[in-house]
Amino acid sequence: MNSFDHYTQKGWCHFPTDAVLHRWLDATLPAVWASIAAPENAHWLRYGGTWFAGVNVLPNDATGAVPGGPALSGTAVDFIQDRLNCRDLPWDRAQVSVCHPGYPQPMAGETAAMHAFRQDRDAAHIDGLLKEGPQRRRYLREYHGFLLGIPATDYTPGASPFVIWEGSHRIIQAWLKETFAGVAPDEWRNIDVTDSYQAVRRKIFKDCPRITLAPQPGQSFVMHRHCLHGMAKWEPDARAAPQGRVILYFRPPVTDLTGWLNNA
Ligand SMILES: [Fe+2]
Repeated sequence: MNSFDHYTQKGWCHFPTDAVLHRWLDATLPAVWASIAAPENAHWLRYGGTWFAGVNVLPNDATGAVPGGPALSGTAVDFIQDRLNCRDLPWDRAQVSVCHPGYPQPMAGETAAMHAFRQDRDAAHIDGLLKEGPQRRRYLREYHGFLLGIPATDYTPGASPFVIWEGSHRIIQAWLKETFAGVAPDEWRNIDVTDSYQAVRRKIFKDCPRITLAPQPGQSFVMHRHCLHGMAKWEPDARAAPQGRVILYFRPPVTDLTGWLNNA
């Protein structure tokens, strides 16, 4: 199956070791380490110090270049531009996600149910469906074109790998279309989707295969914007580089909300 068919059918595709991407990564790593160590980013360290969430902390520009580094390019970027038709999308600042042994440790303010969901269900979620207020109700507040994952360190497959429920993008897209049918896009953000989201997530847990991805530096993967995904717990025998299991995620926002809802 080619990359596009795999992406369309399963909701993701993998790109093998790519010398162009590896050169970008090598030139970008000093900025990655600096962003993890920066005092202004210390608040991203969570779950008893086992996960640095690092949302949008990489100081890259709209070409994906950090100061002094090259623009982001390679086979995955070609795929995004040529097959996903995302040609003019400026790159957002990348998330720098760092996991350490023992993830997830309990965190202040987290209920037992919340911890169990992180531990046993990989904190499964759809990007952009944000929880708000003390009741943690869900609203669609962000629209990303896709997710591009770029590992930055070596790690074994049990070191909190990325989790995807294959084929879930089709179930989620059908649910979103039904939920927002007849509603103007600028009103979507005001609709409380909590209950039907939880129901569709239960259906996905039952019907879709859960797989884990553990690509290595120089490789990458692209995930469909509607896929249910998460991050697995750290297995006791897992190992990673001294810096931890570091993965960079680009999730450029889009402005065409109708296309975000309806396009394949
Ligand atoms: Fe996510």
